Amino acid sequence: MQFAARAEQAPPLTERPQWRSLQQHYRDIEPQHLRELFASDGERGERFTAEAAGLYLDYSKNRINGETLRLLIELAEACGVSAATEAMFNGEKINVTEQRPVLHVALRAPRSERIVVDGHDVVPAVHAVLDRMSAFSDRISNGDWTGHRGKRIRNVVNIGIGGSDLGPVMAYEALRHYSHRDMVFRFVSNIDGTDFTEAVRDLQADETLFIVCSKTFTTLETLANARAARQWCLNALSDEAAIAKHFVAVSTNKAEVVKFGIDAANMFEFWDWVGGRYSMGSAVGLSIMLAIGAEQFRAMLAGFRAMDEHFRSAPPARNLPWLHGLLAIWNNDFLGASTTAVLPYEQYLKRFPAYLQQLVMESNGKRVSVDGAVVGCQTSPIVWGEPGTNGQHSFFQLLHQGTRLVPSDFIGFCRTDNPLGEQHDLLMANLFAQSEALAFGKTADQVRAEGTGDALVAHRTFEGNQPSNTILAEQLTPQALGSLVALYEHS
Ligand code: F6P
Repeated sequence: MQFAARAEQAPPLTERPQWRSLQQHYRDIEPQHLRELFASDGERGERFTAEAAGLYLDYSKNRINGETLRLLIELAEACGVSAATEAMFNGEKINVTEQRPVLHVALRAPRSERIVVDGHDVVPAVHAVLDRMSAFSDRISNGDWTGHRGKRIRNVVNIGIGGSDLGPVMAYEALRHYSHRDMVFRFVSNIDGTDFTEAVRDLQADETLFIVCSKTFTTLETLANARAARQWCLNALSDEAAIAKHFVAVSTNKAEVVKFGIDAANMFEFWDWVGGRYSMGSAVGLSIMLAIGAEQFRAMLAGFRAMDEHFRSAPPARNLPWLHGLLAIWNNDFLGASTTAVLPYEQYLKRFPAYLQQLVMESNGKRVSVDGAVVGCQTSPIVWGEPGTNGQHSFFQLLHQGTRLVPSDFIGFCRTDNPLGEQHDLLMANLFAQSEALAFGKTADQVRAEGTGDALVAHRTFEGNQPSNTILAEQLTPQALGSLVALYEHS
C-alpha cells in the first residue's frame, strides 16, 4: 500500500494505544530527577549512547529510562516509520501535497545505485550535475574561467533565500578552514537593499561571480537581488555580454532562468523532488563547492551518505536519527518543552542553529498531518541557539535557574582546526560542565555546604533536571558536517 493511503487509514497519533502508554509512563518518570536516574543506574552514561557515521550521541541526560525508549520505539513502529523511510528511499511520492518524492538521499547516492522516479533512474542525472559542478569549480579555481575582462574570479556572491541560502552559508562558515582563502564568499538573501549593498561594497565587478540560486526562480527576494546584481554588473562593465561570464543559475526552472537573461548553458540543474531545506547537497551547494573544492564537497556528500545508510539499516534502539527524533517528541509532547536549544561548541558552526530553524520547523511545524487532519499534540519544538561559550554569557542563566523546561543539543569536536594554547580544552570542558550542571543542578544543601549564607541560598540553587543530548565528532571535517546535517534531516 502506498504511503498516502496508509497515512489516511491511520488512527490519529494521540489516540493510539502507544501514545496513551507513553502518557501513562510519563507519570512514573515525572517525579524522578536526573540525579536519581543516574544514581539508580550506574551504567546509564554508557548505555544511553549510540555511534554511527563518525558521530557519537550521548542521550543519557534525557529524562528517560529503558521503558521510555521501548515505548517510543513502539509508537514509531506503530506509525509506520520504517515503511515510510523505505518509501522515501525508494522514491515514492511521500510529499502528498505536491505529489512528489522526497529524494534528497539520491543526491548522495553512489553512481552504482538505481533510484527510479516515474520510470527513470535519477542517479545518472545527479552525477552528471555533480560532474558539471566539479568541472566548473576547477575552472574557477585554476583561473580557466575568467570574467568578461579576462580577470580571474575572486569573489563569489550567492543570491538566494531560505533553503537556497541557509545551507550554503551555514556550510561555507562551517568549512571555512577548508576554503580557498584567496577568494571572497558572500551570501545575499534579504529583500532589504542593505544586504546586497553591503555584500558588494568592496568588490570589483570584473572579478565577481553571482550565483542566482532559486528552486522556482520566481522568489521575490531572490529575483529583486538578482536584478540589482545585474544592474551593478552592467554599471561597472557596460556590456550586456558580461552577464554570461558573471552570472550562473541554480534552479529547477530553465524557462525562468533564460527569461531572466542567464544562458541555459550556465545553469546547474536540480529537481522538484529536492526540498529547498534539504538541498545543500545538490547544485544549491555550488557556492560551497567553489569554496572548498570538488573533492571536499564529495567528502561532505560521503558523510551524508554514511548517515543515510545508518538511518536506513540500523535497529531503532541504536539508530541516531530515530533516537534523536523520538527524544524530541518525548521532550516536546510528553514533558511539555516547547523549544530546543542548539548549542554548538564550535565557532565554525555559528550559522547551524539558523539552518536548523528552517530544516526542523518548516518540516515539522504544520498543525495538520499528511492526511490533512489537525494533530492533537504540539508540533515541532521552536529551535534556537548560539555557539558556546557565548551563549553561557547571555541566556544560560534562564536555562539553569529559570522556570521553563528547555532541552538542549550540545555539539562538540574532539580536535580543533585552530589550536590556541589550552583554549580548545577549555571550550570542551565548558561543554561537558554545562550539560552536567543542567542535568544535575546544585541543591540548596550543596550551596549551603559551600558556605553561602541563608539569604543567598535560593539565588545560587540550580534546579537541574534539564534534558540534553551531546553530539560529538572527532573533528569538523566536510564528512563530519555531512553526517551531522543528515542526522538532523532524518531526525
Ligand atoms: O519560503 C520558504 C521557501 O519556499 C523555502 O522552502 C525555500 O527554500 C525558499 O522559500 C526559497 O525558494 P526558492 O529556492 O524557490 O527561491
